[in-house]
Amino acid sequence: MKKVALLVAAALMAPSAFAHQAGDILVRGGAMTVAPTTDSEDTFDVDSNTQLGLTFSYMVTDNWGVELLAATPFSHGVSLKGSGEVANVKHLPPTLMAQYYFGNAQSKVRPYIGAGINYTFFFDEESRGDLQAIDANVEADDSWGLAAQAGVDMDVTDNLFVNGSIWYMDIDTDVSVNGNYVDTANIDPIGLMVGLGYRF
Ligand code: NI
Repeated sequence: MKKVALLVAAALMAPSAFAHQAGDILVRGGAMTVAPTTDSEDTFDVDSNTQLGLTFSYMVTDNWGVELLAATPFSHGVSLKGSGEVANVKHLPPTLMAQYYFGNAQSKVRPYIGAGINYTFFFDEESRGDLQAIDANVEADDSWGLAAQAGVDMDVTDNLFVNGSIWYMDIDTDVSVNGNYVDTANIDPIGLMVGLGYRF
């Protein structure tokens, strides 16, 4: 009997098997699609693109975390309304988020919301179509903006979980051709990420 009591006491005192809790590091990876939300008022149309998204969260408390988003470079075709593709741009959108996780350290399912800052830098801008024909030099300026997210982590094993999240990022870039400002591309994408996470 004494042995059983000790085992029960040990089980009660052991860290909870299923938990995001203070001090945990959460690494998530998966397919991330960036879908621009340009509308009919905009000069430019920007294609969607899917890349490998990676996020790193640190749980400051059982409910509050900070997260950094990283990804392999996104590549988007840029069209002028009614006159086809005129450029292709690549970008990286690192984003720093403060997150609130609902539930507690015993919850196997942790929905969360976050808000933060996005910095997007554009590179490898290339002219296409009519602009390529005249060998034009296209540039897209870097962008600072607010970002918001909602997501959920669902435990599969003690350390592995599945993740789904949706993002909004305010990304606006000034586009210039041969050094002359043309217009601002309001990319303002919705990001969708589905993948797996590991808790350290
Ligand atoms: Ni915007």
